[in-house]
Amino acid sequence: MILSKDTFRSNGNFNYKNIQKLKQEINKLDLGIKLSDDLDVFKKTITIDGHIIPNSLATHPMEGGDSDEKGSPTELTYRKYKKIARGGSGLIWLEAVSICKEGRSNDKQLWITEDNWRDFKKLNDLIKKSAKEEFGEGFEPKTIIQLNHSGRYCKVNGKRNPIIATHKRVLDEAIGISEDYPLVTDEYLDNLIAKYIEAARLSKKAGFDGVDIKACHGYLLSEILSAYDRKGKYGGSFENRTKLIRDIVHKIKTDKECKGLLLSSRLNIYDAVPYPDGWGVSKTEDIEIDLEEPKKLIRLLANDGVKLISITMGNPYFIPHINKPYDMGNYIPDEKVIFSCNRLIKEVGEIQKSIPEVSIVGVGYSWFRQFAHYVGAGSLKEGLCSIVGFGRESIAYSDFARDILQNGEMKLNKVCIACSKCSEMKAKIGTCGCVVRDSKIYLPMYKEMKSSEVSTNE
Ligand SMILES: Cc1cc2nc3c(=O)[nH]c(=O)nc-3n(C[C@H](O)[C@H](O)[C@H](O)COP(=O)(O)O)c2cc1C
Ligand code: SF4
Repeated sequence: MILSKDTFRSNGNFNYKNIQKLKQEINKLDLGIKLSDDLDVFKKTITIDGHIIPNSLATHPMEGGDSDEKGSPTELTYRKYKKIARGGSGLIWLEAVSICKEGRSNDKQLWITEDNWRDFKKLNDLIKKSAKEEFGEGFEPKTIIQLNHSGRYCKVNGKRNPIIATHKRVLDEAIGISEDYPLVTDEYLDNLIAKYIEAARLSKKAGFDGVDIKACHGYLLSEILSAYDRKGKYGGSFENRTKLIRDIVHKIKTDKECKGLLLSSRLNIYDAVPYPDGWGVSKTEDIEIDLEEPKKLIRLLANDGVKLISITMGNPYFIPHINKPYDMGNYIPDEKVIFSCNRLIKEVGEIQKSIPEVSIVGVGYSWFRQFAHYVGAGSLKEGLCSIVGFGRESIAYSDFARDILQNGEMKLNKVCIACSKCSEMKAKIGTCGCVVRDSKIYLPMYKEMKSSEVSTNE
């Protein structure tokens, strides 16, 4: 397929012919990536607060934009999670689900409510049933639902409806937010706590094992972490900037109806935009990583019962190569792809090693294609994370875990090729999936999207 040259550029191809070549490159560049062929490490179970995750492989959240207008899953959603469940990962981390109407990233984002939680129960039941059918009654993957408010990336009726806690120069400019655009009030943020609790209660009723209080990728709870200039109780000091996520976690932890939920968070540790716009960054001009505050927050969350954290970085709307290193995308980053993967793997490792009491889910593996399991095994062996997570791979190659655990391989003709077409679909039409490996469903959608672009351009 020929890619439209105006939007997509090649960032060089993944071209390691064998694992030796990859090893040589890692050594030559003196990277922190580790390799291991001891794949038994993936068979290790992880127990957190009585929840047993049956192996050390996870699927990362991948927003599919395929809900109906009320936020309920549709056939496309059920299909995706059935495939994922039949794939054999021990931890299935569901995609971003909105906690309120105005907080949706688009009109097709999942949104859990009092009226539709039974549809989410149907989804969770389907996941559990499909996994058991495939691997036997004794196999039960744990499910985490990702609760989110999209903040500056909210869209309602197809139009941007940014809800911002603070101005961020570079990010404002990128989506046309003017200097006088109003900030969300403290009262609005106070009221969000009840909405998160309500969403967590509904998630519990729907049968999910855990909830993720998402604070990454520039969405509302992520943005507040760097609200250095905001006045009032949610801005300024570290205590104020982290107050909202800590209050939400604490309230869910102590809520009777949420009892037994596995508490987790998907957390940015580095925004990769300069101070004072970014979190986890040095105050110098060159945007160095500074993990002091992220570590402090993780320790505080752990004290309040958050024992499972999925780490990530960056902002997919602004600098996507940081959180999903790619071979093809709409700009060419100023670093080799392997450096972007190395940053993720190494810094996740720094967190895991400093805070061993929390099980950390690692990221940065899909780009390694047919060698990704060796990289993941290397990370587990080295203690760089407790669980290896795959994002794009989970929609390209939904049974990757089965192939790793049962056959000791990842098949070349099934792996994600980091072409960014799923991301392009998400950005342009909301609905997305793997255009390359799930082409029967998603290639026609992708082609339609491209042809309507051509006609709009003409
Ligand atoms: C199309 C698409 C949708 C995504 N949706 C979510 C999401 O809902 N929540 C989230 O935390 N991350 C989301 N991500 C990020 C992935 O979970 C993951 O962090 C990223 O793809 C890097 O992992 P990988 O290299 O294994 O793909 C999404 C990524 C893509 C490409
Ligand atoms: S479209 Fe498929 S192959 Fe391309 S990046 Fe997305 S998941 Fe990977």
